[in-house]
Amino acid sequence: MARANGKTALITGSTDGVGRMVAERLGQDGWHVLVHGRDRERGEQVIASINAGGGAAEFLQADISAIAEVRRLADAVRRTTKRLDLLINNAGIGSGGPQGTRQTSADGHELRFAVNYLAGFLLTDLLLPLLKTSAPARIVNVSSLGQQTLDFTDVMLTREYSGIRAYRQSKLAQILFTFDLAQELKGSGITVTALHPATFMNTKMVRDFGTPRSTVEEGALAILKLATSAEVEARSGLYFNGQEEARADAQAYDPQAQQELKRLSLELTGCQAVKL
Ligand SMILES: NC(=O)c1ccc[n+]([C@@H]2O[C@H](COP(=O)([O-])OP(=O)(O)OC[C@H]3O[C@@H](n4cnc5c(N)ncnc54)[C@H](OP(=O)(O)O)[C@@H]3O)[C@@H](O)[C@H]2O)c1
Repeated sequence: MARANGKTALITGSTDGVGRMVAERLGQDGWHVLVHGRDRERGEQVIASINAGGGAAEFLQADISAIAEVRRLADAVRRTTKRLDLLINNAGIGSGGPQGTRQTSADGHELRFAVNYLAGFLLTDLLLPLLKTSAPARIVNVSSLGQQTLDFTDVMLTREYSGIRAYRQSKLAQILFTFDLAQELKGSGITVTALHPATFMNTKMVRDFGTPRSTVEEGALAILKLATSAEVEARSGLYFNGQEEARADAQAYDPQAQQELKRLSLELTGCQAVKL
């Protein structure tokens, strides 16, 4: 039986892939786990698996491609728990393969940017007060080694669309956000880190268009290191490649690009920067 440790974690996109394994491991370690995804049936399966291991979990359903749904998810989190010690922004969609065509969200935003980056930006912003009252708390952004410089004249990729470019710019946006937020959160007791979990893990995203080259466990262990290890405790504004600290694309370190992305993100989500 898992022994409750009094801590609560929300893992977005934990109905499948690496997010699911991270949720199950946290459940085994006594965390109260908030499992999130679009599919209720898969969600209930993860809850059953965590409960069977003696853990405690709840499922929160939301399609976070839509801004309104991200807001609804944040409300549901606040209704479900009085504390949040860990937020893992993991939900994501892949490139759509070589033939992938440009898609937009309900809000008219380029879909990969909306799901992989903007949803995590907004969810984090909305949950910062709860994380703050639970501090020390951690935020982990599940990014990727696949990174492409953002062109601020065409973030919505209306010209020369490619799914790979869309995926990569969304993943780099997560890292710019991580580094900028780490500065903002100095002294708050909340740390924020980003990582590439592992290359071509055996998940749906990879199987849809390619051949897996690493296990889901490898990626899950890398995420868990940033989420729970003593080694990374109180360390913020870091990017890891698997279990090793690494350098991200140069744009991630550019304060002007970070500010430009924040300005755009606040405008697109219609939210105010939270002052802690
Ligand atoms: N696989 C790799 O090798 C690899 C490498 C580098 C980085 N990553 C990153 O790792 C993260 C997890 O990827 P994975 O490989 O585990 O993918 P996966 O198996 O396809 O799982 C993706 C998860 O995200 C959820 N999701 C997708 N779109 C959503 C939406 N609009 N609203 C709510 N939930 C949504 C899915 O929920 P549903 O059950 O509703 O579909 C699922 O739980 C992603 O951010 C990915 O970019 C993966």
